[in-house]
Amino acid sequence: MTPPGLDPPPPPGASALPAGTFAGQVVVVTGGGTGLGKAIATEFGRLGASVAVVSRDADHRAAGVASVLAAGGSAGGTALGVACDIRDADSVAAAFSEVEDALGPIGVLVNNAAGNFPSPAEDLSPNAWRTVVDIVLNGTFLCCRELARRAMAAGRSAAILNIGASYAWTGGPGFAHSAAAKAGVKNLTETLAVEWAPAGIRVNGLVPGLFPHEDEVAAIAGVPGRDAGVDDRVPALRVGAPRELGWAATFLCSPYASYVSGHTMVVDGANWQRRNALQAPFVPIREQLERGPFDPDGPDHVRRPRPPTTPVEPD
Ligand code: HXC
Repeated sequence: MTPPGLDPPPPPGASALPAGTFAGQVVVVTGGGTGLGKAIATEFGRLGASVAVVSRDADHRAAGVASVLAAGGSAGGTALGVACDIRDADSVAAAFSEVEDALGPIGVLVNNAAGNFPSPAEDLSPNAWRTVVDIVLNGTFLCCRELARRAMAAGRSAAILNIGASYAWTGGPGFAHSAAAKAGVKNLTETLAVEWAPAGIRVNGLVPGLFPHEDEVAAIAGVPGRDAGVDDRVPALRVGAPRELGWAATFLCSPYASYVSGHTMVVDGANWQRRNALQAPFVPIREQLERGPFDPDGPDHVRRPRPPTTPVEPD
């Protein structure tokens, strides 16, 4: 029987690469304690890496460490939670030192930490704009810079993976701040790949499509209708499983991708390229987000409660 849509992925616990591919390697995953960051960190653990889960939140760090250890326990790696606010260069430097003191030189950096919430652009406060750009673009740069300086000083090679979003290419109505920042991240990936290749540092990007997970932040989970009929919204006729992103991430940072640099890979079942022969009727973003008319005297934004989460297949 031919299934409609793309084939399901191999089962949880499978790896895309040979066992032990990252044995003896130190991998930093920012935002590695929740959602897709945790799935990526876990996949590195499964392949034997020593993984540093870098996050502002102690509970998130603990969750990431537990997941990496559960997957990687028998593969010889370890896991460590490290506190850091990636917007702060001193905090980044201190976190990287803590990782290297405990685990050894960092060979792989996954810039996954992000901040995001939906809002019509005209409702964004200056600080709301600044906060998201600061986490997504400035934080990514600060972490890239920190790793590169350490690797260059020691004469070591390294791999960096920047997590992006497909609205970096298209714009993202309702997410002007995040889309602009992610466009910057994609562009930065391309610049750094060229600048740092002579030093043995590869820099790539990875863009997730629809990957439901239990840690989705309330503001995004609260986008009206977000949970309904998700499989029907993508050409693949199914959403992604977080481990599919983990496999792509580990490949791009592995020796098997040794000649891949400056590339941003999209893992979304071709969703971002879809276009109907005739577009559906246009709905302005305020209506999509169920906001009333713009009120210049109103609050800058409306926060939405988190709807109940849908259980997802474990990885
Ligand atoms: C409008 C908001 C808001 C909201 C915060 N702000 N939430 N504005 N709508 N829902 C405003 C605040 O009012 C404030 O501005 C400014 O943003 C900073 O908010 P803080 O809460 O003080 O900042 P901070 O504690 O640093 O938190 C950052 C955060 C938070 C981004 C707001 O949500 C966070 O830390 N998130 C981390 C996890 C995350 O967001 N992951 C999602 C990644 S998903 P004022 O003017 O009031 O001071 C992703 C994929 C993209 O990126 C694809 C999805 C479609």
